[in-house]
Amino acid sequence: MAQPVIHKLEAESHVAIALATYIADLSAKFIAAKGSFSVVLSGGTLIDTLRKLTEPPYVSSIDWSKWLIFFLDERVVPLSHSDSNYKLAYDGFLSKVPIPESNIYPIKEKLSPEEAAEEYEQRLKHLVANGTLKASPVTGFATFDLMLVGMGPDGHVASLFCWHFQRFEKNKWVTFITDSPKPPPSRITFTFPLINSASEIAMVVTGEDAADAVKVALGEHASYGYPLPVQKVSPEGNLTWFLDNEATSELK
Ligand SMILES: *[C@@H]1O[C@H](CO)[C@@H](O)[C@H](O)[C@H]1NC(C)=O
Ligand SMILES: *[C@@H]1O[C@H](CO)[C@@H](O)[C@H](O)[C@H]1NC(C)=O
Repeated sequence: MAQPVIHKLEAESHVAIALATYIADLSAKFIAAKGSFSVVLSGGTLIDTLRKLTEPPYVSSIDWSKWLIFFLDERVVPLSHSDSNYKLAYDGFLSKVPIPESNIYPIKEKLSPEEAAEEYEQRLKHLVANGTLKASPVTGFATFDLMLVGMGPDGHVASLFCWHFQRFEKNKWVTFITDSPKPPPSRITFTFPLINSASEIAMVVTGEDAADAVKVALGEHASYGYPLPVQKVSPEGNLTWFLDNEATSELK
């Protein structure tokens, strides 16, 4: 991985604008190079931080018909449930831009967590096999163009938590957890080998409750001790952090 690029911005509203500019540029670049742009969304405050993309000048500058949407992790609940990341993304972002319905890949409903993870992994493998997604020449895992990743106050990313074995998964693309420390307990999640096969990862972290984990991940003692899940984010491509002043308030 190249050195991460770290944008320390003043307020969350500046993060929203910087992120929209970065995403619009990548969208144009990837669509020009290969005719599509695969984007992985996560839940939490990230969806709200994408709001500028749905407004001028960004919204009309993007060829939304070429976007493909995937979910970094998902709660195993119906897609209409208020805990669903799909619903959050749909209400806050996807319903406001003209991405074709068939280009959006939510989890399948009415499956157990284990089945839902397996089904999502098989769907990704099918999309690699039919040329919709590329695979990493290094790892063989699918290579997404852009992953938008948030972080919890405890340093977790996706549904990969500190004291849970899923963060060490080496072979599966997608795995599941039934005792998430953050409710709801049943989720599926991309694994680190899949996450780190991405071309571009944006770590989008705002708010005061993230400050301690940001200090651990980016501060002078970042290499000490037992790493937080967020410290395992290390893509084959480029890593760019977008932080606001609250998230960096513990950094010197
Ligand atoms: C690949 O499979 C997906 C899902 O079945 C389908 O939507 C897409 O059109 C297929 N692409 C090609 C090139 O066959
Ligand atoms: C990383 O970013 C550089 C500079 O923008 C770009 O040339 C390169 O293609 C990117 N790497 C990947 C794997 O996308």
